[in-house]
Amino acid sequence: MEIKVSNDVKNLPVDVLVINMFEGEKTSQELANTYAIERDKFEGKPGQTYLLQTYGKIPAQKILVTGCGKREEFGENEVRSAVYKSVKKLQQMQAKTAAFDFDAGFDYGKSGVIGAMLADYAFDKYKSEKAKRVDEITFANVSQESVNSGVIFGNSIKLARDLSNEPAAYATPKKLAEVAQSLEGITTEVFDKDEIERMGMGAYLAVAQGSKQPPRFIHMKYSGKNVKKKVALIGKGICFDSGGLDIKPPASMLTMRDDMSGAACVLGVMSALKELKPDIEVHGLIAACENMPGGNSYKPGDILKAKNGKTIEVDNTDAEGRLTLADALVYACELGVDEVIDIATLTGACMVALGTAAAGIMGNDDEMINRIIDAGKNMGEKYWQLPMYKEYFNSLKSEIADMKNTGSRYGGAQTAGVFLREFVKDVKWAHIDIAGTAFLDKPEKESIKGATGFGVRTLLSYLITN
Ligand code: BES
Ligand code: MN
Ligand code: ZN
Repeated sequence: MEIKVSNDVKNLPVDVLVINMFEGEKTSQELANTYAIERDKFEGKPGQTYLLQTYGKIPAQKILVTGCGKREEFGENEVRSAVYKSVKKLQQMQAKTAAFDFDAGFDYGKSGVIGAMLADYAFDKYKSEKAKRVDEITFANVSQESVNSGVIFGNSIKLARDLSNEPAAYATPKKLAEVAQSLEGITTEVFDKDEIERMGMGAYLAVAQGSKQPPRFIHMKYSGKNVKKKVALIGKGICFDSGGLDIKPPASMLTMRDDMSGAACVLGVMSALKELKPDIEVHGLIAACENMPGGNSYKPGDILKAKNGKTIEVDNTDAEGRLTLADALVYACELGVDEVIDIATLTGACMVALGTAAAGIMGNDDEMINRIIDAGKNMGEKYWQLPMYKEYFNSLKSEIADMKNTGSRYGGAQTAGVFLREFVKDVKWAHIDIAGTAFLDKPEKESIKGATGFGVRTLLSYLITN
């Protein structure tokens, strides 16, 4: 889809001119007001659309009026969703060219373009029949700058979605490393199994050892001009989570190619930094591997030694993500960064608690957590902070090691959180659990079924404003 800017869209010979209408007001265009929209019970509510023929009065073939709700409630989230719904409608109509002439009251370019690009997204590379797409969209009443930034965000989300939608046979640890190495403006170091062993990452290696796919530890780095802050982002990169020897039942395993959605998010974020040019240093870290059963798998009862020397009794091989993150967290803290953020499809418990509406967030610095939550607000990504009471560690106590990798079934997201805390030292840290938000089993909000790319928008906004 091509995206353009023009302030003369009324004279463009497009298939459809899209305009907006607020509840209780008239449309922004005289031509549309000459038709009795009210008579047809088109009230301008969010999600409502109304189609008009233009009969040659303007070069556009048709006018699509999109309801935008109350003017006073109209902001970035509302415009993104209105454009998303309009583009979905344009696709149904099989329109090829369109122009948006929204009267939003603000420069809606960035959110509008994100909405359009999210609507344009389809994972159809393996389908003979491709999705219906709009070829070209022109936006009016926006700045070129905001549109450019929307395009950068949109492309990053697309990269993240593509990687988590891909079958595990494609998105292997090796493939993730290749993608990392192909990113422009980023320097990437990739460590193989022997190097991971030399670095002392015994917890991560144990998870990896059951698979024929060798692990890859990926370290990407972006350096801005006047570095004001150093941040490390860690993405959980389990390319397939079968559960290991504590194997998952079929229904739970079905979508476990998505268990690298945290890694996909970090790759998406890193891919945009060269163009967004924030004045910071960003390290993107992924401990990529598969969790598989096999003759060489790690076993319940094994004792692992993480990079910081702490020992872990394996209670359940399906609690693998926290083991890989443990070593990545120790590695991140040794980089001397100011902040560490990890993002992971970590626990079914978080999904049970918050559903698909919000991701769980925890950490050791409430001020930083609030800044992350704020960064997501205008971007349509919600977070809910979960507590990190020391009581949650009680069920992780082991008689033969420093801790077990799983504890009580209750409060499972927080138990995982306090487990991770054992590997964080002298740094501000936030942990984001996207088990419920990363991958949908039906279309919701601005996403089709499958990968949402959750976290990309928030973390990019966070990095460019904080
Ligand atoms: N990858 C899963 C968590 C998950 C579940 C992500 C559903 C997305 C959707 C994780 O590795 C896992 O298996 N967690 C276990 C932990 C348990 C063994 C303590 C879980 O949540 O059941
Ligand atoms: Mn698991
Ligand atoms: Zn997992």
